[in-house]
Amino acid sequence: MNPEDPVLGKHAPLLRRINEELERALSSRVGLVEEMGSHTLLGGGKRFRPLVFILCCRMCGYQEEDSYRLSTIFEYIHAASLLHDDVLDNAEVRRKRPSANNIWGNHAAVLEGDFLFTKALSLAVSSGNLAFLKTLTDTTARMTEGQILELMRTNDWSTTREQYMEIITAKTATLISAACVCAGLLAQVDEGALAVLERFGLDMGIAFQYMDDLLDYTSRQEIFGKPVGKDLREGKVTLPLINALETLDPRERERLAGLFGSGRASEEDYRTLTELVRERGALDQILREAASFVNRAAASLQRFPDSYHRRDLVELSRYIVERRY
Ligand code: FPP
Ligand code: MG
Repeated sequence: MNPEDPVLGKHAPLLRRINEELERALSSRVGLVEEMGSHTLLGGGKRFRPLVFILCCRMCGYQEEDSYRLSTIFEYIHAASLLHDDVLDNAEVRRKRPSANNIWGNHAAVLEGDFLFTKALSLAVSSGNLAFLKTLTDTTARMTEGQILELMRTNDWSTTREQYMEIITAKTATLISAACVCAGLLAQVDEGALAVLERFGLDMGIAFQYMDDLLDYTSRQEIFGKPVGKDLREGKVTLPLINALETLDPRERERLAGLFGSGRASEEDYRTLTELVRERGALDQILREAASFVNRAAASLQRFPDSYHRRDLVELSRYIVERRY
């Protein structure tokens, strides 16, 4: 997380505490497990999920010390899923550094993902709260389903907006939503408040992935921390491409699908298609839609009494559409 960023910078003490807790649970009797864990977790990352969890805990009136330790669950699961995702994507760079699979190979990266995921579950068990644990296991099952759906749609140029929404809700939004719901569970809020927290997290998560997919076409690697134009090369049909394809006649769509799906596309072809998506992908509209998800998320929090923490959450949710990395 960039401490110079005003929205995140104001939470610097909280972020320091989260980082201390993250480091604490990384220990292992096997040196390589610790080394990969430190590389994966301590080298960067916005800590968005733990922050959302702690702010939701506070907004709901849960002020216990263990909220810091429990917040790391969401970063561990996130990190584990990225370790696995980088293997699936053959990614070489993550958070401006070589990815774990790039340094230590696929086998070690997958196993480190398993280690961090297990750490997360072990921490959740220590909460003694079964509903908390169940939310997490349901969430990771949904994330895996999302990844499988994405896999099934790889290079499928007929992917619809609805299918895209289903994928991003499952793979990204459910974990952010779980961070909100689990905070509510600890605070023992009622069913109505839990439903609001769930929706708040889902809306933020959808906006988050919209921005990730938009930045993949518009950002630069030095800022984004990972190569841009990656989605197209991985055969991922995301919203900017779906929008652009809708503007083409079916024959042209088929030609492009054949060219890119067969692996025959040249560098020039990639440049041309990226340009087309920038021109016709309705990128401004995606930004506006992301902002409207964030607005809906912020409005739903009106159900909770006004507090600094509620305002911080609204501010953090708006940061999603302002971020450039
Ligand atoms: C990154 O998306 C990946 C995810 C949001 C989810 C990955 C989920 C799994 C691998 C399944 C669950 C696994 C565990 C261990 C719980 P992206 O590829 O769009 O983003 P990127 O451009 O940063 O790679
Ligand atoms: Mg990926």
